[in-house]
Amino acid sequence: MQTQQTPLINPFGVELDLEKGLMRGAKNHLVRRASDMRGYYADAAALQRLIGEENDPVHYEVFEVPVPENYGHLMYCISTLRPGLVGQEYFMTKGHYHSIPNTAEIYLCLRGEGYMVMKTAEGKFATERMTRGRMVYVPPFWAHRSVNTGTSEPLVSFCAYPAEAGHNYGDIAVQGFPKRLFAKNGECVVA
Ligand code: PA5
Ligand code: NI
Repeated sequence: MQTQQTPLINPFGVELDLEKGLMRGAKNHLVRRASDMRGYYADAAALQRLIGEENDPVHYEVFEVPVPENYGHLMYCISTLRPGLVGQEYFMTKGHYHSIPNTAEIYLCLRGEGYMVMKTAEGKFATERMTRGRMVYVPPFWAHRSVNTGTSEPLVSFCAYPAEAGHNYGDIAVQGFPKRLFAKNGECVVA
Protein backbone atom coordinates (compact mmCIF):
# COMPACT_ATOMS: atom_id res chain seq x y z
CA MET A 1 0.00 0.00 0.00
CA GLN A 2 1.25 3.48 -0.88
CA THR A 3 1.02 4.75 2.69
CA GLN A 4 3.48 2.09 3.87
CA GLN A 5 6.23 3.62 1.75
CA THR A 6 8.13 6.35 3.55
CA PRO A 7 9.92 8.77 1.20
CA LEU A 8 13.42 9.80 2.27
CA ILE A 9 13.68 13.58 2.44
CA ASN A 10 16.36 15.92 3.78
CA PRO A 11 16.14 17.42 7.28
CA PHE A 12 14.97 21.01 7.49
CA GLY A 13 14.08 23.71 9.99
CA VAL A 14 11.19 26.17 10.07
CA GLU A 15 10.88 29.61 11.70
CA LEU A 16 7.73 30.24 13.70
CA ASP A 17 6.46 33.59 14.93
CA LEU A 18 4.81 32.62 18.21
CA GLU A 19 3.47 36.10 18.87
CA LYS A 20 1.89 36.70 15.47
CA GLY A 21 0.95 33.05 15.13
CA LEU A 22 2.49 32.24 11.79
CA MET A 23 5.03 29.97 10.13
CA ARG A 24 7.55 31.70 7.89
CA GLY A 25 7.93 30.24 4.42
CA ALA A 26 4.71 28.24 4.79
CA LYS A 27 3.78 26.68 1.46
CA ASN A 28 0.22 25.99 2.55
CA HIS A 29 -1.68 28.89 4.03
CA LEU A 30 -5.34 28.16 4.66
CA VAL A 31 -7.58 31.13 5.49
CA ARG A 32 -11.14 30.50 6.62
CA ARG A 33 -13.49 33.46 6.75
CA ALA A 34 -16.99 33.76 8.18
CA SER A 35 -18.42 32.83 4.79
CA ASP A 36 -16.57 29.49 4.92
CA MET A 37 -18.35 28.67 8.17
CA ARG A 38 -21.95 28.58 6.93
CA GLY A 39 -23.86 25.82 8.70
CA TYR A 40 -21.44 25.57 11.62
CA TYR A 41 -22.83 28.13 14.10
CA ALA A 42 -26.09 28.03 16.03
CA ASP A 43 -27.08 31.55 14.95
CA ALA A 44 -27.04 31.54 11.13
CA ALA A 45 -28.48 35.07 10.95
CA ALA A 46 -25.65 36.44 13.12
CA LEU A 47 -23.11 34.76 10.83
CA GLN A 48 -24.81 36.30 7.81
CA ARG A 49 -24.59 39.74 9.45
CA LEU A 50 -20.83 39.27 9.94
CA ILE A 51 -20.44 38.29 6.31
CA GLY A 52 -22.60 41.08 4.94
CA GLU A 53 -22.03 43.96 7.30
CA GLU A 54 -18.60 43.35 8.81
CA ASN A 55 -16.64 42.50 5.70
CA ASP A 56 -16.56 38.72 6.07
CA PRO A 57 -13.88 38.59 8.82
CA VAL A 58 -11.16 35.96 8.95
CA HIS A 59 -11.90 33.25 11.52
CA TYR A 60 -8.68 31.28 11.37
CA GLU A 61 -5.51 30.61 9.47
CA VAL A 62 -3.46 27.42 9.21
CA PHE A 63 0.19 27.43 8.11
CA GLU A 64 2.06 24.34 6.93
CA VAL A 65 5.36 23.50 5.36
CA PRO A 66 4.12 20.17 4.06
CA VAL A 67 5.88 16.84 4.26
CA PRO A 68 4.98 13.68 2.33
CA GLU A 69 1.58 12.40 3.45
CA ASN A 70 2.98 8.95 4.11
CA TYR A 71 3.31 6.64 7.08
CA GLY A 72 6.41 7.53 9.09
CA HIS A 73 6.26 11.29 8.48
CA LEU A 74 4.73 13.84 10.84
CA MET A 75 2.56 16.68 9.55
CA TYR A 76 2.53 19.81 11.68
CA CYS A 77 0.98 23.25 11.57
CA ILE A 78 0.46 26.58 13.23
CA SER A 79 -3.23 27.28 13.74
CA THR A 80 -4.29 30.87 14.56
CA LEU A 81 -7.90 31.39 15.50
CA ARG A 82 -9.12 34.99 15.88
CA PRO A 83 -11.24 36.15 18.82
CA GLY A 84 -14.85 36.98 18.12
CA LEU A 85 -18.48 35.96 18.47
CA VAL A 86 -21.16 34.77 16.10
CA GLY A 87 -24.19 35.84 18.09
CA GLN A 88 -23.11 34.53 21.51
CA GLU A 89 -21.00 31.66 20.18
CA TYR A 90 -17.21 31.96 20.23
CA PHE A 91 -15.23 31.77 16.99
CA MET A 92 -14.18 28.19 16.34
CA THR A 93 -12.64 25.92 13.72
CA LYS A 94 -14.82 23.61 11.64
CA GLY A 95 -13.52 20.50 13.37
CA HIS A 96 -12.87 17.12 11.84
CA TYR A 97 -12.09 13.47 12.33
CA HIS A 98 -8.99 12.14 10.70
CA SER A 99 -9.64 10.21 7.49
CA ILE A 100 -7.55 7.43 9.01
CA PRO A 101 -9.47 7.47 12.29
CA ASN A 102 -6.94 5.69 14.50
CA THR A 103 -4.46 8.57 14.33
CA ALA A 104 -3.84 10.97 17.21
CA GLU A 105 -2.83 14.63 17.28
CA ILE A 106 -1.09 16.92 19.75
CA TYR A 107 -1.81 20.62 20.14
CA LEU A 108 0.57 22.86 22.05
CA CYS A 109 -1.03 26.18 22.89
CA LEU A 110 1.37 29.08 22.32
CA ARG A 111 -0.86 32.11 22.90
CA GLY A 112 -4.37 33.04 23.93
CA GLU A 113 -7.06 31.02 25.66
CA GLY A 114 -9.76 28.62 24.65
CA TYR A 115 -10.75 24.98 24.53
CA MET A 116 -10.24 21.93 22.43
CA VAL A 117 -13.71 20.42 21.97
CA MET A 118 -13.77 16.71 21.13
CA LYS A 119 -16.23 13.91 20.44
CA THR A 120 -16.29 10.32 19.28
CA ALA A 121 -18.67 8.76 16.79
CA GLU A 122 -20.11 6.75 19.73
CA GLY A 123 -21.23 9.93 21.48
CA LYS A 124 -18.44 10.62 23.98
CA PHE A 125 -17.75 14.34 24.50
CA ALA A 126 -14.84 16.17 26.12
CA THR A 127 -13.29 19.60 26.39
CA GLU A 128 -9.72 20.50 27.35
CA ARG A 129 -8.56 23.96 28.30
CA MET A 130 -6.02 25.61 25.99
CA THR A 131 -3.73 28.23 27.49
CA ARG A 132 -0.14 29.17 26.74
CA GLY A 133 2.16 26.27 27.64
CA ARG A 134 -0.62 23.70 27.90
CA MET A 135 -0.61 20.71 25.55
CA VAL A 136 -3.74 18.80 24.58
CA TYR A 137 -3.56 15.20 23.45
CA VAL A 138 -6.32 14.30 21.01
CA PRO A 139 -6.42 10.48 21.05
CA PRO A 140 -7.17 8.35 17.99
CA PHE A 141 -10.89 8.33 17.00
CA TRP A 142 -11.70 11.75 18.52
CA ALA A 143 -12.98 14.55 16.30
CA HIS A 144 -11.54 17.89 17.38
CA ARG A 145 -12.33 21.58 17.09
CA SER A 146 -10.62 24.53 18.74
CA VAL A 147 -12.58 27.44 20.21
CA ASN A 148 -11.18 30.87 21.13
CA THR A 149 -12.82 32.06 24.36
CA GLY A 150 -10.58 35.13 24.71
CA THR A 151 -11.81 38.64 24.12
CA SER A 152 -8.87 40.15 22.26
CA GLU A 153 -6.04 37.71 21.64
CA PRO A 154 -5.73 35.09 18.91
CA LEU A 155 -5.59 31.45 20.01
CA VAL A 156 -2.31 30.23 18.56
CA SER A 157 -1.31 26.57 18.66
CA PHE A 158 1.21 24.21 17.15
CA CYS A 159 -0.17 20.84 16.08
CA ALA A 160 1.44 17.61 14.94
CA TYR A 161 -0.07 14.36 13.71
CA PRO A 162 0.74 11.34 11.52
CA ALA A 163 1.20 12.71 8.01
CA GLU A 164 -1.10 10.18 6.38
CA ALA A 165 -4.03 10.97 8.73
CA GLY A 166 -6.04 13.27 6.43
CA HIS A 167 -9.11 15.36 7.37
CA ASN A 168 -12.69 14.12 7.37
CA TYR A 169 -15.12 17.05 7.70
CA GLY A 170 -18.23 15.36 6.35
CA ASP A 171 -19.76 14.01 9.49
CA ILE A 172 -19.03 17.16 11.55
CA ALA A 173 -20.65 19.42 8.95
CA VAL A 174 -23.83 17.33 9.24
CA GLN A 175 -23.94 16.35 12.93
CA GLY A 176 -21.81 19.02 14.61
CA PHE A 177 -20.58 18.47 18.15
CA PRO A 178 -22.96 17.62 21.03
CA LYS A 179 -22.26 20.95 22.76
CA ARG A 180 -21.28 24.50 21.84
CA LEU A 181 -19.38 27.22 23.70
CA PHE A 182 -21.23 30.48 24.31
CA ALA A 183 -20.35 33.77 26.00
CA LYS A 184 -23.00 34.60 28.58
CA ASN A 185 -22.49 37.56 30.93
CA GLY A 186 -18.78 37.42 30.18
CA GLU A 187 -18.52 33.73 31.15
CA CYS A 188 -17.94 30.71 28.93
CA VAL A 189 -20.96 28.40 29.02
CA VAL A 190 -20.91 24.91 27.46
CA ALA A 191 -24.41 24.07 26.32
O1 PA5 B 1 -5.10 18.93 11.65
C1 PA5 B 1 -5.56 19.71 12.47
O2 PA5 B 1 -6.26 19.33 13.42
C2 PA5 B 1 -5.35 21.21 12.26
O3 PA5 B 1 -4.35 21.44 11.34
C3 PA5 B 1 -6.66 21.80 11.76
O4 PA5 B 1 -6.86 21.36 10.45
C4 PA5 B 1 -6.73 23.30 11.85
O5 PA5 B 1 -6.67 23.73 13.17
C5 PA5 B 1 -8.02 23.86 11.22
O6 PA5 B 1 -9.15 23.21 11.70
P1 PA5 B 1 -10.17 22.51 10.70
O7 PA5 B 1 -9.35 21.60 9.81
O8 PA5 B 1 -11.12 21.76 11.55
O9 PA5 B 1 -10.84 23.56 9.87
NI1 NI C 1 -6.66 17.07 13.12
